[in-house]
Amino acid sequence: MNNIVLREFGNANAVTYPIDEIRYRSDNGKTLEVINSIDVMSAQQVAALKKVFDERAASWNTIDRSGVWRYREFLPAFAPFDTVVSMPEGNTTIYSMPHCAAYTGMSSLFAKHQGMNPTGSFKDNGMTTAVSMAKKLGCRMVACASTGNTSASMAAYAARADMKSIVFIPDGQIAYGKLSQSLDYGALTIQLDGDFDKAMDIVQEVCARGNIYLLNSINPFRIEGQKTIMIEMLHQLGWKAPDWVIVPGGNLGNSSSFGKAFSELKQCGFIDKVPKIAVIQAHGANPFYTSFVNHSSTMLPVHAETRATAIKIGNPVSFEKALFAVTFTGGIVEEVSEQEIAIAKSLVGLDGVGSEPASATTVAGCKKLVAKGIIAPDETAVCILTGNLLKDPDYTV
Ligand code: F0G
Repeated sequence: MNNIVLREFGNANAVTYPIDEIRYRSDNGKTLEVINSIDVMSAQQVAALKKVFDERAASWNTIDRSGVWRYREFLPAFAPFDTVVSMPEGNTTIYSMPHCAAYTGMSSLFAKHQGMNPTGSFKDNGMTTAVSMAKKLGCRMVACASTGNTSASMAAYAARADMKSIVFIPDGQIAYGKLSQSLDYGALTIQLDGDFDKAMDIVQEVCARGNIYLLNSINPFRIEGQKTIMIEMLHQLGWKAPDWVIVPGGNLGNSSSFGKAFSELKQCGFIDKVPKIAVIQAHGANPFYTSFVNHSSTMLPVHAETRATAIKIGNPVSFEKALFAVTFTGGIVEEVSEQEIAIAKSLVGLDGVGSEPASATTVAGCKKLVAKGIIAPDETAVCILTGNLLKDPDYTV
């Protein structure tokens, strides 16, 4: 593994930038990705690496215990791993979900619960890598715009790394569970008169002007960490890929990471089969869905409205990457109504698991895709529950 650089997403001929240059977009204003150049592996090398992963899973060493850093051969940008900030994260359970299976019409259904992470959401998988990179780059101050979970995670990891953190949130539009986390972890928390999309614009401007490192998923090192959600899932399933992975879509960082994970794993010969990615959006915050059904390679921002506040996003920054994830894997984008989300959330609860509303879009989307004949009832599907039930108790009450 060598020659790790940043490059404009989806353009193999574009200029590259060194990974220690602080930038989030190319000179053309496009999003960047980490080009890892992972060597192709022989069958013996694949088997040996799987054995290493098994051994690390049984270790008490923090870096091995982390469900992110355990898979560090796929995170070469952070070598020699001497600035790792880890809680440790990951190691989230895959539950069988019998009530949800019956509800969706599947013979079985699984849920990987990223809400079981240290700060209660999947953001920790990407925050450990991004904050580790911030430390590597010598940054003292980090910032993000957030619908709540990114800020909770960033505030915690920044605190662990002894960095100052600044959070920009839409005024009155984030769940208290999440807001209280960023306050508790000591982030300077600024409420803006506007929505998430406006907060995202402002934080990019603030970071560009000041000496502040941006930790939203436009930061390509966030995407790197979130790849491991899929690597850990495959490991837990005995390296047998499911037919479908179903994930909520907001700013589209998570779906982008999953696409990058599968593309890299396939390219280096680590896996043969790639699961199809289904991205589910709330009807009131559905720019990705709308562009997908119109077969458009561009996206029109919308004014977002949904009670699933985590995904109340009208202008997702990672649209191109998520589109690649869906097309590369032969997947699909679907939308669900507020009522479908609420019912699905109650079903997740009935399985004794629970999640925040945004996560339940996956179960609602699964039901819809089964009804449309896109997901077959006997296929294997893993819903990604992105956030913990306790993040947003008001919704249930
Ligand atoms: N589910 C939850 C619980 C989230 O917090 C988010 C995003 C998503 C799904 C959507 O994931 O953005 O990668 O498509 N929350 C962000 C935040 C944007 O600021 O916490 P995505």
